[in-house]
Amino acid sequence: MPGILTQAAIDDPALRAAYLHCRRTVRRDDPVEYSIMQLMPPLLRPACWAMWAAFSAADDLADAPAGTTATRTAQLKAWTTALEDELTAGHSDDPVRRALIDTMHRWRLDLADLRLSFATLDGDTRGRHLHTWEQWSVWVGDSNLSWATQSMTLLARAGIPVPVWLRRKDSYQRYLDGLYLTDTLTDLAQDLARGELNLPTQVLDQFPDAADHLTARHWSPAAGALIAHLTGQARRWLDQPGLTSTLHPGPAELLSTATRLFHARLDAVQAAGPALLSRPAVPAPFVRWRILARARTRGALAWRLTPLSATPHGSSPGYALPRQTRPPSKFQPPAPHPSGARPPTIPASRMPRHVAVIMDGNGRWATQRGLPRHEGHRAGAEGATRDVICGAAEIGLAHLTLYAFSTENWKRDTEEIAFLFESIRNQLRTYANDKEELGIRIRWAGSAVGLPQDLIEELLQAELRTRHRTGLCVTVCINYGGRDELTRAAAQLARAAAAGDIDPDHVSDTDLARHLTWPDTPDVDLLWRTGGEQRISNFLLWQAAYAELHFTDTNWPDIDRRDLWQAITEYSVRQRRHGAAPAADSSKDGTVAHRACH
Ligand code: IPE
Ligand code: IPE
Ligand code: MG
Repeated sequence: MPGILTQAAIDDPALRAAYLHCRRTVRRDDPVEYSIMQLMPPLLRPACWAMWAAFSAADDLADAPAGTTATRTAQLKAWTTALEDELTAGHSDDPVRRALIDTMHRWRLDLADLRLSFATLDGDTRGRHLHTWEQWSVWVGDSNLSWATQSMTLLARAGIPVPVWLRRKDSYQRYLDGLYLTDTLTDLAQDLARGELNLPTQVLDQFPDAADHLTARHWSPAAGALIAHLTGQARRWLDQPGLTSTLHPGPAELLSTATRLFHARLDAVQAAGPALLSRPAVPAPFVRWRILARARTRGALAWRLTPLSATPHGSSPGYALPRQTRPPSKFQPPAPHPSGARPPTIPASRMPRHVAVIMDGNGRWATQRGLPRHEGHRAGAEGATRDVICGAAEIGLAHLTLYAFSTENWKRDTEEIAFLFESIRNQLRTYANDKEELGIRIRWAGSAVGLPQDLIEELLQAELRTRHRTGLCVTVCINYGGRDELTRAAAQLARAAAAGDIDPDHVSDTDLARHLTWPDTPDVDLLWRTGGEQRISNFLLWQAAYAELHFTDTNWPDIDRRDLWQAITEYSVRQRRHGAAPAADSSKDGTVAHRACH
């Protein structure tokens, strides 16, 4: 093992001891997880141990059986605060944090990416009430996604890119759900000892009395039926077709071995019966050995295909350096417009929830001034886009969606395209890295096909890093086309129908909407296009079905937040009917009761 530390250039004796401490913790507390880490390239294994041990230490504080909610919350906060402070100082006396800090510096990981997991743990100290599988899945994602993503970032930093679709696929989230449900079943005894049963009421209600029996540690036919149902569910989620196809053989081997090991865990759950109530269900060592022996050989071969580098790849400075600031608990208003203008007061019932903007006219703005087109894009991004985002936050808008690059914009010359991408990168850095205090969440809608890998990486990082923010949600549409989004949603539905998960005779619009990129976003209330053209150019075809349209002649670089406020003011007096006949009171309110929203 010290050989691995030497290979990973970890020379300092105290640091080596810290990493070995983490390794012992993983091996002792989760031998299956440890075996999976053994399939990572040796160079990256110490980082995996450190990340796992850190998460586990924080998780233990959140779950500590002794103490009140307040003490658990305080202990977890003290731990994460210490980590933030020590990360700045670059040193910790705690072995787990010492190894984690070294990992973060060495691989240029960012603590912001892990904050969501810590924040979710903090929520766990207060207890969770999960009603549906969907809520459960969001919780699983919040606590685990950033860890899974960090492992992918590690691979990318070492020179093995993991394709973007993996993280965006429904099947990937489902796979994570399968892993987590298996964990829950395996460790049921531990949860029950703490009086917890972290399953949605949706499934518990299907098996009357099962939850009470399990909590009382009484094995009954109802309890057995619930466990059998959950085991089947976990198996289905683990078996996601096509998850490893087109992956580099290294990560592919890792994922398929993890699947086999988790199925072995489920075999152990099924075999345990009543014993599941008193001790964790672990597969016999020889079962693990059999699965791993073959995987190790194949994994070692696979990693040899790509030379790995201990020097991080693909990290741009804006994203690479560890954050040194702590997030404020509440976000602040943006700087006011230089004119001193203040946002109009719009009654809450007349505020749009979602404004989408086709930011058009950059090229013409530049041409009119005898400048190259890219100067129009620069002026648009640095002036108008920035100011409109501030104005949206200032007026209290919930969702702002910006069309930055369409699937049709590839027809432009490569220099212009490269400039547009560079300008997007700069903006992402500003909002994801530096403007934490505004509480702005960034998301991306669009296709990864054809986009530069580093741009994709930055978009996903920005999403992950701002996922916890609760202020204005800015969705940037890059390589976006409404038809492309709908085609992909239709393909997902077809896949679900072919797998028997959905009945084609009962497909509803909400079924399709669930497969859009951001299904939780409300429909577009106001669609605004600048630059004088009156068309929607393949933008948000589904979401804008009932949008109020607003066209203005000004080219985008000459726009500022006051134009947004004007658009919202005009919207606020429009009468929206959604197909209903005009009613006396609806004309007063400007809306009708049943606003379509998914
Ligand atoms: C909008 O401005 C920006 C993008 C489409 C990326 P244009 O570049 O389309 O500007 P015009 O329409 O040519 O003036
Ligand atoms: C729409 O503008 C796309 C964006 C603003 C990103 P275009 O300028 O590309 O649209 P058309 O070609 O005039 O319809
Ligand atoms: Mg245009």
